[in-house]
Amino acid sequence: MTQPSVLVTGASGYIGSHTCVCLLQNGWHVIGIDNFSNSSPNVIRRIEQIAQRSMSFHLADIRDSSAISELCRQQNITAVIHFAGLKSVSESVSKPLDYFDNNVCGSVTLLRVLQQEGVRQLVFSSSATVYGEPNTVPVTEDAPTSATNPYGRSKLIVEQMLSDLIQADPTWRIATLRYFNPVGAHESGLIGEDPRDIPNNLMPFIAQVAVGRRHELRVFGDDYPTIDGSGVRDYIHVMDLARGHLAALHRLSTHAGSFTVNLGTGRGISVLQAVAAFEQASGHTIPTRRVARRSGDIATCYASPARAAALLGWQAEYDLDKMCTDHWRWQRNNPDGY
Ligand code: NAD
Ligand code: WQD
Repeated sequence: MTQPSVLVTGASGYIGSHTCVCLLQNGWHVIGIDNFSNSSPNVIRRIEQIAQRSMSFHLADIRDSSAISELCRQQNITAVIHFAGLKSVSESVSKPLDYFDNNVCGSVTLLRVLQQEGVRQLVFSSSATVYGEPNTVPVTEDAPTSATNPYGRSKLIVEQMLSDLIQADPTWRIATLRYFNPVGAHESGLIGEDPRDIPNNLMPFIAQVAVGRRHELRVFGDDYPTIDGSGVRDYIHVMDLARGHLAALHRLSTHAGSFTVNLGTGRGISVLQAVAAFEQASGHTIPTRRVARRSGDIATCYASPARAAALLGWQAEYDLDKMCTDHWRWQRNNPDGY
């Protein structure tokens, strides 16, 4: 019998790579797959360099059922962490079918194979986007869900599909993790977020301004009902998020049943506060320009992390300064990414 293993889909992506480091460092045998549609093959070597252990990696698409079946048969896979998917809100509006094909059909294919091969433990990457425009903050897991764009809808559909699957077959153990706003990088500066095009998200955009790749940050909105009129979000260090996956895997291996938890810090940070913290961490001034609100944006969103603390014994440890310092180290050392 081979050693028990975890299959990680989207292993070379931003959150996947940081989670692979944590898994390797905690003794897991890691089988990673990715189709490199939004990541670089160089990531794998860097994961291994940080962890000082090797992982098994396969170039594969989650929609390729025979490739996944084959892996399940060769390796003694006990659990799957499913990161693979497309994640740009704006792209999802212009290419909705790509998002449903990849995120929804891809998840269906993966789940069918796991069902056939007898793998019954899954951690799924969901998002705070499923809360739409929250009525109250902090947002708890039982808040109403809704979708405002195809990306969000694809996450919501998969969440609903997983809930139906658990009803039909209660031997499944599924952890649905709703991430808030992941930022930062591993403190080695070897891995981090590497957007292919113009970044959509705030922190990678600020980092590219600091390193001289872009000349200014446009701050979307100056009249939100927040501390300074800019949007407020719950930024969470990617290594805290990675640890959350280990805690979820541990829970699945020790308890029957399924659960949904928020992974956030519980603290709201405005765009201007994030800019000031990044300036402090990097020693660079970030020129900003206040512009109109971005369509579809909400004023304020931050998590209640209480359920994650109670169920998983997990809470975020790193503050905004650490998020910016680590994000900056990655960007400074890799100005053009991988
Ligand atoms: P990412 O794009 O860096 O990583 C996703 C990885 O999946 C990429 O390496 C990509 O090449 C791979 N991939 C995509 N489609 C695939 C397919 N069909 N087969 C195999 N590999 C495929 O994104 P990330 O930030 O690491 O996000 C990981 C997951 O977390 C995604 O599901 C995303 O929707 C979700 N999420 C991300 C955020 C965020 O802000 N980063 C927030 C909430 C949820
Ligand atoms: C944060 C704040 C912007 C860029 C998105 C997805 C969500 C999840 C995380 C995957 C907002 C402001 C941003 C810029 C700005 N992803 N901003 N100038 O919108 O909270 O969430 O990423 O699941 O689904 O919607 O994150 O980083 O884009 O924006 O002023 O150039 O920064 O208006 O207030 P968001 P974000």
